[in-house]
Amino acid sequence: MSEHNQALASAFDGQAEKFEFAPVQSDPAALARLVREADLAADCLVLDAGCGPGLVAEAFLNAGHRVVGVDLSTEMIARARRRCAAFGNRARFERLSVTDPSLGGPFDAAVSRYVLHHVDDQPGFIARQVALLRPGGILVLSDHTTDLDPDRSALHEELERGRDKTHTRNLTAGDLVDLFGEAGLIDVRMVEERFTLDFDEWFDRGTPALSKADVRTRLLANPGIRGFHPTLMTGGALRIDCFRAIVRGVKPSAIETTNSQVKAEAGHA
Ligand SMILES: C[S@@+](CC[C@H](N)C(=O)[O-])C[C@H]1O[C@@H](n2cnc3c(N)ncnc32)[C@H](O)[C@@H]1O
Repeated sequence: MSEHNQALASAFDGQAEKFEFAPVQSDPAALARLVREADLAADCLVLDAGCGPGLVAEAFLNAGHRVVGVDLSTEMIARARRRCAAFGNRARFERLSVTDPSLGGPFDAAVSRYVLHHVDDQPGFIARQVALLRPGGILVLSDHTTDLDPDRSALHEELERGRDKTHTRNLTAGDLVDLFGEAGLIDVRMVEERFTLDFDEWFDRGTPALSKADVRTRLLANPGIRGFHPTLMTGGALRIDCFRAIVRGVKPSAIETTNSQVKAEAGHA
């Protein structure tokens, strides 16, 4: 396992319990929305890439799908198995990296929620899931997004990394769509939705590199970041207004790939 993946495994072993019951992660309406936007045919075999404690897997299982969940964290996998035990052999969870060669497809769909911003090779993470899909398979990704302005986005990253050393990079919603296009996916759709974090709850389940007081002060001094907007509430609580994107794309069939190659070649002629 790479050094980064080892750090991720240990960070998420440590925060698994808080993560499983955190309001944003366990929000039933958000999970229902993810399943709705995935818009899968009945009884799909779904890869849950970076499944954490099985919240996403459980939502797709409840919708009638079968799920294979993989995660780097032993504690997350134990929780996912417990949470989804009632689904018997419709659900399987393995402590594996998404890139592990032993992970076989093809899957009808692959979904990852809140994983991309922890990954160091983001195009590779997408490409790996596309490779595991059957032609016509669906890729769904949900993650929180950042500001279009590079300086404000860089500041957002500093605050995120200050709170969690395993954070790599948030993308804009547009960047996410571009990643799907670059991976060869077609019929790409994106929806953006709002959510709010409570600063204390968010910070306290992280793996911080900076002090809580430092991150709070810097956040309050920079209220202009799109997707990371602080509001000081009566009583001193700090609310952060964020955006997350849900992106969905389709892996083209061999015929669709050939057609688009022919069109591209004709365009270059
Ligand atoms: C923020 S949690 C999200 C968990 C879950 N997807 C959810 O939304 O409830 C991110 C998870 O991704 C896992 N992860 C990160 N990179 C991974 C990789 N390359 N392969 C498998 N799991 C990975 C971490 O171990 C962690 O449990």
